[in-house]
Amino acid sequence: LRVGLIFGGRSGEHEVSLRSARAVIQALDGERYEVIPIAIAKDGRWLPPAESWRMLPSASIPSTPHSSPERDAVTIIGDLNWQGLVHLGEDGTRVERLDVVFPVLHGTYGEDGTIQGLLEMANIPYVGCGVLASACGMDKVAMKSLFRAVGLPICRYLWFLRAEWETKPSEVIKRIEHEIGFPCFVKPANLGSSVGVTRATDRASLEAALTEAALYDRKIVVEEALDVREIECAVLGNEDPQASLPGEYVVLDRRAEFLDYTEKYGQTGHVEFVTPAPVAAELVREIQQMACRAFRAIDGAGLARVDFFLRRDTDELLINEINTMPGLTDVSGYPKMWAASGLDFPQLLDRLIELALE
Ligand code: DAL
Ligand code: MG
Repeated sequence: LRVGLIFGGRSGEHEVSLRSARAVIQALDGERYEVIPIAIAKDGRWLPPAESWRMLPSASIPSTPHSSPERDAVTIIGDLNWQGLVHLGEDGTRVERLDVVFPVLHGTYGEDGTIQGLLEMANIPYVGCGVLASACGMDKVAMKSLFRAVGLPICRYLWFLRAEWETKPSEVIKRIEHEIGFPCFVKPANLGSSVGVTRATDRASLEAALTEAALYDRKIVVEEALDVREIECAVLGNEDPQASLPGEYVVLDRRAEFLDYTEKYGQTGHVEFVTPAPVAAELVREIQQMACRAFRAIDGAGLARVDFFLRRDTDELLINEINTMPGLTDVSGYPKMWAASGLDFPQLLDRLIELALE
């Protein structure tokens, strides 16, 4: 099978995507798949395969005869004859169709339905959620509305537009203090990996947090910051999704105030991802059921990781969010939770590609 692996991208999670792509390329079975790497630069340029390989360290180029690191003549997308997607050969004519695309892109312009829409237009099967689920999973406001509509428990939150914050800052602050209070999390509505997220503890830190979040998005979400354990669960499947054993981010050092970008990817040693999460069997079942309900609520397909809060004071389980293209890096939870559930990374990738072709 010829697999187009799209990675990089224009979002704040570009580097995370490179790291996910590296892990995927290393784990894909070279006998079964011919990988065509398609990197998207930070400025949005689509790079031809030879240049795309160079975005990844040479160690990740498979040495099997079926891979084609030096190939430069590939038409990426079948039915869609659009220059941005079509890398023609030197003679300008060669056309080779991809059997499936794996968009290993995180964040905006990749995890949010945009590339999924392009692939639908091109009539190319792709790994993961479709347009609707991707868009709803990316936008924390839309996501929360869907969760609430099906009765899934979520934390207290409010949202507003950047324009409101810029034109009526004191009203926005008053609303947050009145409806949410401190401490609270301020988040851009449409990013991942905690980019632009700040924990605010008083009015001054709230103002700074709002200014920061406003750099990233025109829509801002503020959530109550509860004393919680952070539990995650991996979902795999299409119409009949299965949930993995849950995992947990365990804080080893209180300097890790919350799971920000550095804690997630910097290997600070302040947090550890533990699989399976040390929780009672009954709670495991509840987590798995809720993860599948969340997946259905957004109309998910292929894969998603559902992140939970387990309140330390009330033992209540809340859904924090769903990620439709969860990190697949060497330090990411999604592959680790499936490994703990008996599915290693190469098997997991086989399954994801099968699901894309269903
Ligand atoms: N947004 C990152 C990639 C994650 O959820 O794992
Ligand atoms: Mg996320």
